[in-house]
Amino acid sequence: MKHTDIKELFANSQQYKEKIVTVCGWVRTARDSKSISFVELNDGTCLRNLQLIVDKENAKDMPAVSVGTALNVTGNFVPSERNGFEVIVTAMEVLGECPADYPLQKKFHTLEYLRTIPHLRPRTRFFEAVFAVRNELSFAIHKYFHSHGYKYMHTPIITGSDCEGAGEMFRVTTQPWKTDCKTEQEYFAGDFFGTKAGLTVSGQLEGEIAAMGLGKIYTFGPTFRAEHSNTTRHAAEFWQIEPEVCFADLHDIIEIAEDFIKFIIKEVIDNCPEELEFFNERSEKGLLDKLHGVINSEFVKLKYTDAVEILKKSGKEFKYPVDWGCDLQTEHERYLTEEYYKKPVFVTDYPADIKAFYMKQNSDGKTVAATDLLVPGIGEIIGCSEREADLKMLESAMLKRNMPLDAYREYLDTRKFGSVPHSGFGLGFERILMYITGVQNIRDTLLYPRTVGSL
Ligand code: 4AD
Ligand code: MG
Repeated sequence: MKHTDIKELFANSQQYKEKIVTVCGWVRTARDSKSISFVELNDGTCLRNLQLIVDKENAKDMPAVSVGTALNVTGNFVPSERNGFEVIVTAMEVLGECPADYPLQKKFHTLEYLRTIPHLRPRTRFFEAVFAVRNELSFAIHKYFHSHGYKYMHTPIITGSDCEGAGEMFRVTTQPWKTDCKTEQEYFAGDFFGTKAGLTVSGQLEGEIAAMGLGKIYTFGPTFRAEHSNTTRHAAEFWQIEPEVCFADLHDIIEIAEDFIKFIIKEVIDNCPEELEFFNERSEKGLLDKLHGVINSEFVKLKYTDAVEILKKSGKEFKYPVDWGCDLQTEHERYLTEEYYKKPVFVTDYPADIKAFYMKQNSDGKTVAATDLLVPGIGEIIGCSEREADLKMLESAMLKRNMPLDAYREYLDTRKFGSVPHSGFGLGFERILMYITGVQNIRDTLLYPRTVGSL
């Protein structure tokens, strides 16, 4: 269907000025005066609507349009005082009618309401902006790694190993719900893969395998967690970016993570100015100042032990009391990053007992070379560590956690044959998207959010 994108018309308006153009889109608003109809058309290519002017005198055989109607319109693209440019319509074809029970009649709908109609959300300004930033952010991520010589790896989605060891894997099975199996072993032996399988909680272990030959790699793919955390920051299906870098220690990977975060935020600032203006108004006042502040300042680096001291001295009544060895809860993370430092904070060197098996053990025998990046408003957006590169140390950490070494033989081989210091991190894609847009609920960053109790 020959037509011009609305984005293209606005971007090169001088070139189209006083020319006949054809556009397609959906009616966002329609209002009538005595002799003229004003229609705002949106085609999804940019946030801005194109105003159509329909002179009723010349439009006797043109159909009346209602909100949501899909149109193909031809007319003169002319300067206008109010809108910059508008189209004086000469011909109009209805591509798809939209009856009066279309749920998006109002100009403004709450996000809670829109969650009940996910199939129509992309037709709203809010979600058009969310998905535009989501798109730009994805591209920026690839751009960063590609220009720094990383290889993009596609790690398996179906896997047998629980990388994070938290037992939050969704099971993948083709077994009928009733079998004659007497044992779990027998049940899984008869299953599709002949063994227990699940959806990946992280591409890291396979990412490490790839990095141990390719030097530096990244993954960017879906991740699944059967966590029963019904919060505004947890989804059962989310996307994760996981670089894995050989010949890099914790200090090096922190530097990479900070540089990377600043780069992708800058790309969105540069390429989505209208969307960020919109979010600055609609979801977080001061959003733009916050983002500029982040790219122009150094992130805090704080040892876990010092974080515990700060929290203890804060005089705050936390729901979960703080003591050395405890996992930091959201309330603690938010205090550090929102009240105490008011900027992103890398908390480093956590107690080994609260972290995953693969992290490098520090010489104090108590902590690991790991860091979480915490940001105001959200808490953790990155989980990061130097990996344990010593075979014996790694095996002992696994045995301590009752992990079956045999199931991880190939992973352990990377430490047996030419082991090198290496590090990596996992960035939650929807979490950084929330941070950049000020969107408060992870359900409003995904086309179809999957959360506990809701598919
Ligand atoms: O801290 P996590 O569990 O780290 C890992 O998976 C490591 N294997 C990463 C690595 O070193 N390669 O998860 C990483 C990030 C978190 O910081 C958070 O941003 C996000 O993934 N995340 C979630 N995002 C949305 N919903 C959930 N349920 C999430 N769980 C983790
Ligand atoms: Mg984590």
